[in-house]
Amino acid sequence: MTSVRLTGTKYGCGGGGCGACTVMVSHYRPATKTITHYSANACLLPLCQLHGAAVTTVEGVGSTRTRIHPVQERIAKAHGSQCGFCSPGMVMSVYTLLRNRPQPAMDDITHALQGNLCRCTGYRPIIDGCRTFCQEADCCQANGAGDCCLNGEETLEETQHLFDKREFLPLDPTQELIFPPELILRAETAPPQTLTFRGERMMWVSPTSLEELVQLKARNPEAPLVIGNTNIGPDIKFKGILHPLIISPTRVLDLFEVTQTPHGVWVGAGCSLTEVCSLLEKLLPQFPEEKTEVFRALSQQLGKVGSLQIRNVASLGGNIMIAYPNSDLNPVLAAGNCKVSVISNGKVIVPLNQDFFVSFGKTILKPEEIVVSVFIPFSRKGELVRAYRQAPRKESSFCTVTSGMRVFFSQGSSVVQDLSIYYGGMGPTTVSATQTCTAIVTRPWDDETLQRAYDVLLDELVLPPSAPGGKVEFRRSLTLSFLFKFNLEVLQKLREMTVVVPGSFLSHVPKDQRDQDPVGRPIMHRSAISQATGEAVYCDDIPRTDGELFLALVTSSRAHAKITGLDVSQALRLPGVVDVITAKDVPGQKVRKMFGYEEVLLAEAEVQREFLITVLINNISVSCVGQMICAVVADTRAHAKRGAAAVKIGYEDLPEPLFTVEEASEKSSFFEPRRMIEKGNVAEAFKTVDHVHQGEFRMGGQEHFYMETQSMLVVPVGEETEFNAYVSTQWPTGTQDAIAEALGIPSNRVTCHVKRIGGAFGGKVVKTATLACITAVAAWKTNCAVRCVLERGEDMLISGARHPVLGKYKVGFMNDGRIMAADMQYYTNAGNTVDESPLVVDKILLHIDNAYNIPNLRGRGAACRTNLPSNTAFRGFGVPQSIMVLENMLNDVAMVLGRPADQIREINMYQGPSVTHYGLEFSPENLWRCWDQCKEKSDYAARRRAADRFNQDNCWKKRGLAIVPIKYGIAFAESFLNQAAALVHVYKDGSVLVSHGGTEMGQGLHTKMQQVASRELGIPPSKIYISETSTNTVPNTCPSAASYGTDANGMAVRNACQTLYQRLEPIRQKNPKGSWESWVKAAFLDKISLSATGFYRGPDLYMDWDKMAGRPYAYFTFGACFCEVELDCLTGDYRAVRTDIVMDIGRSVNPSMDIGQIEGAFLQGLGLYTLEELKFSPSGLLYTRGPSQYKIPAVCDVPLRFNVYLLPDSHNPHAIYSSKGIGEPSLFLGSSVFFAIKDAVAAARSESGLVGPFPLDSPATPERACLACASPFTQKIPASTPGSFKPWALNI
Ligand SMILES: Cc1cc2nc3c(=O)[nH]c(=O)nc-3n(C[C@H](O)[C@H](O)[C@H](O)COP(=O)(O)OP(=O)(O)OC[C@H]3O[C@@H](n4cnc5c(N)ncnc54)[C@H](O)[C@@H]3O)c2cc1C
Ligand code: FES
Ligand code: FES
Repeated sequence: MTSVRLTGTKYGCGGGGCGACTVMVSHYRPATKTITHYSANACLLPLCQLHGAAVTTVEGVGSTRTRIHPVQERIAKAHGSQCGFCSPGMVMSVYTLLRNRPQPAMDDITHALQGNLCRCTGYRPIIDGCRTFCQEADCCQANGAGDCCLNGEETLEETQHLFDKREFLPLDPTQELIFPPELILRAETAPPQTLTFRGERMMWVSPTSLEELVQLKARNPEAPLVIGNTNIGPDIKFKGILHPLIISPTRVLDLFEVTQTPHGVWVGAGCSLTEVCSLLEKLLPQFPEEKTEVFRALSQQLGKVGSLQIRNVASLGGNIMIAYPNSDLNPVLAAGNCKVSVISNGKVIVPLNQDFFVSFGKTILKPEEIVVSVFIPFSRKGELVRAYRQAPRKESSFCTVTSGMRVFFSQGSSVVQDLSIYYGGMGPTTVSATQTCTAIVTRPWDDETLQRAYDVLLDELVLPPSAPGGKVEFRRSLTLSFLFKFNLEVLQKLREMTVVVPGSFLSHVPKDQRDQDPVGRPIMHRSAISQATGEAVYCDDIPRTDGELFLALVTSSRAHAKITGLDVSQALRLPGVVDVITAKDVPGQKVRKMFGYEEVLLAEAEVQREFLITVLINNISVSCVGQMICAVVADTRAHAKRGAAAVKIGYEDLPEPLFTVEEASEKSSFFEPRRMIEKGNVAEAFKTVDHVHQGEFRMGGQEHFYMETQSMLVVPVGEETEFNAYVSTQWPTGTQDAIAEALGIPSNRVTCHVKRIGGAFGGKVVKTATLACITAVAAWKTNCAVRCVLERGEDMLISGARHPVLGKYKVGFMNDGRIMAADMQYYTNAGNTVDESPLVVDKILLHIDNAYNIPNLRGRGAACRTNLPSNTAFRGFGVPQSIMVLENMLNDVAMVLGRPADQIREINMYQGPSVTHYGLEFSPENLWRCWDQCKEKSDYAARRRAADRFNQDNCWKKRGLAIVPIKYGIAFAESFLNQAAALVHVYKDGSVLVSHGGTEMGQGLHTKMQQVASRELGIPPSKIYISETSTNTVPNTCPSAASYGTDANGMAVRNACQTLYQRLEPIRQKNPKGSWESWVKAAFLDKISLSATGFYRGPDLYMDWDKMAGRPYAYFTFGACFCEVELDCLTGDYRAVRTDIVMDIGRSVNPSMDIGQIEGAFLQGLGLYTLEELKFSPSGLLYTRGPSQYKIPAVCDVPLRFNVYLLPDSHNPHAIYSSKGIGEPSLFLGSSVFFAIKDAVAAARSESGLVGPFPLDSPATPERACLACASPFTQKIPASTPGSFKPWALNI
């Protein structure tokens, strides 16, 4: 689509996992004369497969140049587009839904969005915007006001709307694009004929009859049959598998036929999973329930396979034939006695049983055999069929373990006549628990039989401790839990919850504020509409320039090794490859210096550089998997990637790579300085306390997973070594300087431009600059424009993540709950280079008090140097790790004392005029107000009582509650970073162009700056434009980070606007009734400059680590968050039932933006603390390199009720218009979900007599939560002896 300049469709992962590339595919079916529409992931759609189909991209839906579509408008105006990179995909998913169902139900919307990830918004505003299309649209649930009028808790008058639905364009299905008539005509008239497409290396053949298909397959047994391409596509793309011939059977009608028989239904193997699901749902009401047990189990499971986009194309036959061990369908099909009809020499019927699946990815069928259809039988009276699955995320996630179970009782008897149990995820194939079935069959279904069955099952399905996929204990316990659930299912159906009831509440603007003044009002993100229409231009959307080249990186596959050879000859011989860039090509500095450490741009620089001193240190090495070694430049992306794959690197492994913080500490492998801070006398205080408790807490890292991967384009201007760098970076100046240093040219020859960033979260500062340097070197060397856009997997491998942390603590406290002393040690896993790790450690230590006044407090922090990819800044910059360890310590104190955790928190919270452990004075008044209001709004006491009752009544489900506070320091402790500049031009027609040093990455900074300029100049925001951030308009910018963008840049814009306003004052005096335009024109004629710079010299902050005192923050943002979860103790599955957040953000400049930041950060925090797991192999390779393996929160993770309140009557003298920074603080509030899970686990443990503190590391995944519950099933699993095996994954 890039070649036809349709760049609205975005590329976020390439593997069907993120939905950014969603398009609508439409087909005309001549047999029924109907048109069908379905959403699909463009990244997996083979172009040849689309012959005769119409594809609608976001450009076809609507645009600002013609007419925007209601879906685009509503997502934008409901504030559902922040960075906007996910917006076109969201629009297309909902647009397709509306084409099929103009008045959808809420469930339809959440299903449609199952496969669309957003890393910014927290989903609530997207759902709110789309909700307005629902049938229940007249109810206030649909109006964006938040809470529903039906629940009787709040009245509409009490709430203020985030958007006005009366403004919305109506949805008029008659206005939609029609299916191209020429395609209908062709489908009606063109005789079917075999289609053949030939490419550079592959041929694609699409036959029209079964006979032809059979012959083709017989002649080419190794050629795959491609239908949905959801298996073959990723194999070709990511594993480099080449299929010279592909057979596409999508026009062979026999594969799509559905036939009903008295015994069941034959479904064509080519039918998509969505079609199978719809068929089953259509059949269900037509038959008595007893006949449709298999249908129901299958349709329930089908709804959970992948996302809707995947199910719309993935075929039933494909799912069976790829014989994936984690297939969700195969266990149900096998348990349900299904069979397949197979054709080659003749037709045969083959049962789908344990003999069908022979090994990983292999079935009993021969390569030339084709599955024509699948038989799904009716069930008999007395038969019960069920399906179970447990996945890292509830939706759009491959399962950890999945199962299908069928039991048959003869009438009036509890004796089991027949039973089949199949599991997926328990070995290389779908497996049958045959011995377990034998142990049950002919026996009555009772406790005694089942107790014996659990033991047999445990012996039957054994996994070695180092089994691929890890989670061995959890997987084994899930097999037992599923069988137990099957047992319970007969007695009681488990309750399902699916409705999202969100709500957000605003602070009010002062009554005397002018109507035209936009400050404090929920103004829509200024680019939201262009983002929703796909017109917004991101780095990779910039049109190709003449002769442009693409750069692909070659990275180390070893964690710690000498490079013994680098052979690029084969790569250079490949078509399209122009050059290979190595360290020796870097004309300027080959290293980047930080904190006294050097980070090489390309690893061979180390070879070269250190070669000279090899006699001294003899250390020519790479130090992590993923370290950049060289880069291939070629004429296209595909050629560059092929070239990169052809580069050969020789390694000689070096001993003892260090991966964990324990290993690093043992070897004293640290990045200095290590820090310590202390107030009071900790050692003395421990002697006087009633209790001393010690514990430790391990927190995993977090991948940024910005939707737009690292992207840059460097264009040589052609004279005087001048370059234009278009980079998706949070720090244009940092990138400009780094490029200049790498090229050995002055900074004035490099201009860095940032239009917008598709999400950043701290991950587009340091690493981006390094990547931009390499791209710039390539542009310099080839004298061509060079573009580099990382694939999702590369990005995750190379660019680092949030620092994992091991926290150790010793706490001394009194019987009444007062904490008198705490000694805390933090070890962060910094990875192989220093990056910003020492600053992360600083910030960790500055937040070890959070909201609590602990009189004797000591913190020590170290950045451990390991052989993992270097970690970097991430929203919160260490604070989410720091406070988490502290809050866990408080929880332990509560458990030791047997008191509720919220009481311990209250007892220890700062009171009255307070001083932090580094001597900063502040008032905790607003902290308390947030806390108290949060308790009140959430009805904490009543909910606690209700949860206790629920827990008494339910054995396997438990409810847990938690409330946590946050005190978050705003601004940079490095004082020089607290400055900003702006440049404001007023043109003769009165239009205003604002430039400032901050970057727009979804947080709405440009919108807020527009509001500031609007207020200061007294003109509507529509007259103000912000084009981009660039280093030639505003130089020496600071990174947009530390939640300080609005504070700093707002002041600078205000300063520039005030200068202009004052210059215009004499003219205004002369003509007070004149218009803005007339004043501007008069000023020009009067030779008054209509351009002004603005500057803000922020507060002089500092931290003196020797004295352990300072003023590192300008002020604090406060908040509190309540969460309630319901936990399934058998599987660890949880659901956040309700969340209430009260946040003190002063007087918000734009409440909708700020609520968006709060919700988005909360959900990112929920991901950090309960869902997202980075997994490394024992040799240091990151396993989790895409959305299939790494799960960020999706729509299904939004709390069922989600309320955000802005604390009223809060003022802040330290920031613009009394507002407060909010980008980072609420991320920590996601921990309320963690602590609510922990509370639920504690309730489960207490039933087994287990009381007191217990370990639960973060993230509290279903695996960890389930094992921590210590149910009788998990207790049955024998623990493997550490050291007796090599674990599948490292515990970093
Ligand atoms: C992002 C993503 C998420 C997913 N999530 C899940 C999930 O949660 N649960 C789950 O179970 N699966 C999941 N899948 C797997 C998906 O269901 C399968 O990839 C899909 O069903 C395969 O069908 P296809 O038509 O796309 O196969 P293709 O990729 O087109 O073909 C796959 C293979 O099947 C063979 N084949 C296809 N049809 C026939 C036939 N009629 N006769 C003989 N051989 C045939 C082909 O030769 C080829 O080798 C997911 C996949 C993706 C990409
Ligand atoms: S780019 Fe296609 S699903 Fe992510
Ligand atoms: S707005 Fe959804 S990813 Fe940024």
